[in-house]
Amino acid sequence: MSLWGRVFAAGYDRFLAPTEAAGLGAERDRVLADARGRVIEIGAGTGVNLSHYTPAVSELVVCEPEAPMAERLKKKVKKKKKNGLASVRVVAASAERLPFPDASFDCAVSTLVLCTVDDPTRAIHELGRVLRPQGRLLFIEHVRAPAGTRLARWQDRLAPLWLRFGHGCRCNRSTLEAIAAGPFDVEQSTRGELPRAAPLVRPYITGRAVAR
Ligand SMILES: C[S@@+](CC[C@H](N)C(=O)[O-])C[C@H]1O[C@@H](n2cnc3c(N)ncnc32)[C@H](O)[C@@H]1O
Repeated sequence: MSLWGRVFAAGYDRFLAPTEAAGLGAERDRVLADARGRVIEIGAGTGVNLSHYTPAVSELVVCEPEAPMAERLKKKVKKKKKNGLASVRVVAASAERLPFPDASFDCAVSTLVLCTVDDPTRAIHELGRVLRPQGRLLFIEHVRAPAGTRLARWQDRLAPLWLRFGHGCRCNRSTLEAIAAGPFDVEQSTRGELPRAAPLVRPYITGRAVAR
């Protein structure tokens, strides 16, 4: 793991705090209110979503491939378990290769992850595979600004720099289109701007997609 990877994990919660307080936290509440049954979360990071799940979740599997993030995630899970969160398991797995049988989850969650995975198409297909038919993918992802806008051009120009700063994050991915091209029907989606975020990662999408 690179030094920047460790610094990124150590500073993640603090770096995100103003955006969480200004609206992202409320968005997590809204989106994760639909999580129920057996739930898988990919790229769980430091575990920011843990406090946004409801008792409708009977079992939660949080996947995180990077050790510095996973260490923090495990600590948070331990604390949450003490406070009564249902069964939670931390698994070291990348979204492109999920070590679970087909159709084994009711719901999947991806928040600010499909920007970072190396192969989003493969990750989206893996999510479709592990979800039961009609299972839901809940997502919050920052995305490429609408085509032809000045911001989209800047995202394209600065993507190589942002990739380093954001520890693998691509600021110019068209993630909603990628989900719709996968084994999902997008049931509901909204576009917005993440408050108090850097302009390059302000445009975002949130919503639900149903596995075919
Ligand atoms: C920007 S953080 C998002 C963390 C958390 N989901 C959130 O909403 O705050 C991106 C996360 O994706 C993880 N990640 C990177 N590559 C991944 C991959 N191939 N599969 C799954 N997760 C990955 C990173 O380690 C990091 O924890």
